[in-house]
Amino acid sequence: MTLHLLKQRKCDYYEPTQNQMGYMTTHIDPIGHAFLNFAQSVTAPVIDIGAAYGHVVLEAASRQIDIIANDLDPRHLDIILQRATEQQLPYIMPLPGRFPEQMQFQPNSLGAVLICRVLHFFPPNDWMNAARTLFQWLIPGGKLFMTNESPYFGTMRKFIPVYLERKRNGHPWPGVMTGMEHFDDARKKDVSSVINLLSLSETRAVLEDAGFHIERIEYLDRKGIYPDDALYDGRETVGVIAVKT
Ligand SMILES: C[S@@+](CC[C@H](N)C(=O)[O-])C[C@H]1O[C@@H](n2cnc3c(N)ncnc32)[C@H](O)[C@@H]1O
Repeated sequence: MTLHLLKQRKCDYYEPTQNQMGYMTTHIDPIGHAFLNFAQSVTAPVIDIGAAYGHVVLEAASRQIDIIANDLDPRHLDIILQRATEQQLPYIMPLPGRFPEQMQFQPNSLGAVLICRVLHFFPPNDWMNAARTLFQWLIPGGKLFMTNESPYFGTMRKFIPVYLERKRNGHPWPGVMTGMEHFDDARKKDVSSVINLLSLSETRAVLEDAGFHIERIEYLDRKGIYPDDALYDGRETVGVIAVKT
């Protein structure tokens, strides 16, 4: 998609991805701001995994933070580089590839990782493996900044009763959606993936199991960040800051 067409499909809150992996948000949320503030204070490399068109990457570059911009779709990274100003460009290191299998970092090598609205596309085993890999890559004291859609996400509101019923029945991963029947009809064209929605407590459990200490975990109210149809009751997204102690 050209930049011109992309502009036409952009709404105030969302820009659709090129690869039907949902949208990039156009506003930086509290987890993004916390990442930017922390990244300014660490000397080890920092990365945005699944950066899409790089709204956080470009802000990091404006603050003169060297940042690795990753996405599995190289077209997204090309657009980041097209959007970057001459002043921003030297701070951005594009790294195309699918996390984690196409990325290689030494253990204890990254100072901070931002991974927003990516892991809700990961089936259970991949989610757990991703958490363990991130823990391994971070330096001691390094931090993970993460957001994922929760089971209380407006776009999938038809799924909430299914999720709650599964939870009552002790389903180990009650938020896994393999078909699109519970997805908002108007948004189906922009997503083609397994979706795995974790609540706050489920997210905490997986991260703690991988070794992380949870510094902050909360439901994020997406008013002002998401369009109205994606809102539910203020629990749309789980936001986390976790530390490798
Ligand atoms: C829903 S968008 C989120 C973009 C941005 N992080 C945000 O919060 O607005 C998901 C992005 O992650 C990328 N992505 C999905 N799975 C990925 C993976 N395994 N490795 C790297 N990028 C991935 C997609 O290509 C897409 O650009």
